[in-house]
Amino acid sequence: MTDRYTTHEYDVLIIGAGGAGLRAAIEAASMGDSVGVVCKSLLGKAHTVMAEGGMAASMGNVDDRDNWKVHFADTMRGGQYLNNCMMAEHHAKEAASCVHELESWGALFDRTKEGKILQRNFGGHKYPRLAHVGDRTGLEMIRTLQDHGIHHGIDFHMEVTVTNLLIDGNKVVGAFAYEREKGRFILFKAKAIVIATGGFGRAFKITSNSWEYTGDGQTLAYDAGADLLDMEFVQFHPTGMVWPPSVRGILVTEGVRGEGGILTNSEGKRFMFEDVPPLYRSSTADNEEEGWRYVTGDKDANRPPELLTRDHVARKIVKEVKAGRGSEHGGAYLDIAWIKEKIKDSETHIKKKLPSMYHQFKELAGVDITKEKMEVGPTTHYAMGGIRVDSETQMTTVEGLFACGECAAGLHGANRLGGNSLSDLLVFGKRAGAHAAKFATAIDTFSAIDSKEVDSLVTQALAPVDRTEGENPYKIQQDLQETMQDLAGISRSEAGLNEAMEHIRGYAKRAENAHAPGNREYNPGWHTALDLHNLLTVSEAMCLSAEQRTESRGGHFREEYPEKSKEGSTYNTVVRKAKDGSMEVERVPVVPQTDEMKQIIEANE
Ligand code: FUM
Repeated sequence: MTDRYTTHEYDVLIIGAGGAGLRAAIEAASMGDSVGVVCKSLLGKAHTVMAEGGMAASMGNVDDRDNWKVHFADTMRGGQYLNNCMMAEHHAKEAASCVHELESWGALFDRTKEGKILQRNFGGHKYPRLAHVGDRTGLEMIRTLQDHGIHHGIDFHMEVTVTNLLIDGNKVVGAFAYEREKGRFILFKAKAIVIATGGFGRAFKITSNSWEYTGDGQTLAYDAGADLLDMEFVQFHPTGMVWPPSVRGILVTEGVRGEGGILTNSEGKRFMFEDVPPLYRSSTADNEEEGWRYVTGDKDANRPPELLTRDHVARKIVKEVKAGRGSEHGGAYLDIAWIKEKIKDSETHIKKKLPSMYHQFKELAGVDITKEKMEVGPTTHYAMGGIRVDSETQMTTVEGLFACGECAAGLHGANRLGGNSLSDLLVFGKRAGAHAAKFATAIDTFSAIDSKEVDSLVTQALAPVDRTEGENPYKIQQDLQETMQDLAGISRSEAGLNEAMEHIRGYAKRAENAHAPGNREYNPGWHTALDLHNLLTVSEAMCLSAEQRTESRGGHFREEYPEKSKEGSTYNTVVRKAKDGSMEVERVPVVPQTDEMKQIIEANE
């Protein structure tokens, strides 16, 4: 019954059109392979644009003491040494050339007085390191990659969602997808596939992620037999909007703090000066004047405590709220307007440096950030965990299946430094594209795909529309988001995680009976019903991984174990599908550091 779907063939199929997917596509196409890109929404609408403040690369344009070794050491420290150190080394070494390459393709960065690419401060980075375009860096990156990619003969399939990968033995041979608008089905035959679908923030109620981020890539890989790594580590960005309720979770860039923004509580106290972790104490300002000198570019000044790593800042805000010192709507105050004490025309300066933040608060909250404080609180922003990949090639444990960007894991360990995501997308998108192309080139013909298998996928996909009654998929999604927010969010406990898993099993049963009335054209309920499997899979993986890590580290905080454990630094967590179809969890040793790496880290402590 092949009339139930159309077929396309590509040497390399890329699933996802954010920064990583586009960079991978450009690389694979430039090596002469035929490339198709599948994009869940419209081209240009990717979570990449939510990395607003910049991309980290040790170009040393603002502080010439910076180099790849310091960037490597900062990334490892930020990741609390659970990073795949080989990936951290590739990233630190290759980020600067990737930024220059992007510039040569037309990206227009802000400039220093001497005309070099300007770099700003961000949490956990020792020196100003974030190449940026105001507070629209991710947007500029996507624009540039699209403009450049369009000349490479790449086919784009917009508003298409992949629901299944097709596997022969342990090798990927294709993907099954549907067009969201018309509900028509597509079979992609491919010699290699790159997953670049981003994260799974939509498993939580409060998130900076938009509707697309439902863990699709992680689930496709898991279902195909690949390993997931470190799924317990989820980044709660300290500054999302908290008011009005309709915009809760929308990102407020760390660039605000990078430009001198300070956090205060309801008593007007700059609470970040308390509880500075010992590791950072010597390099963190112990008075406001010191912190300000740092922000204004004084090389010898200390760092302001607002620029500690995101896990720490997010927990400090929660602590203030719990202590009854939160802002009016349950967050903290973020103040950039105060810089009028230091800068002559601060209003123009803020509008120039943070144009999107100015408009976002003006339009959505009626707040003028050049004069008033913002209200902010933690928002689920990024998944450090994801698909386990080889550090050289980005290939997963399934042959011919590659992953890059947020959906892949390893580089960031237990906590990602802000700005490291955009450079991650470029460095590992490029590597994934190159290795997928190489893999595809070595294969002569497309594998045969059993049409009966595809027919059964069509039937399975249509089930929520075909059944005549059942539960509203939105309700199941909403219940899951509440559960994950309350029981598996910024603070976790064994009892809470077990309760969450119990709920997830119940939601999975309910999802089998999800019903999307209407037909398959323009039916968002149907899309939500199909996304449920992905959200439930990544949620279970998160809870299972979080339950076995009996310590607190980076983006994982356990109430009963608030400190790091010695054992915790020795292993990464792997989740995979067991033979009986259940989810199993295993600890694997952390990738060992070379002697040179150890020396670099020691020298930069
Ligand atoms: O705050 C931000 O601009 C986000 C950056 C990032 O997540 O890398």
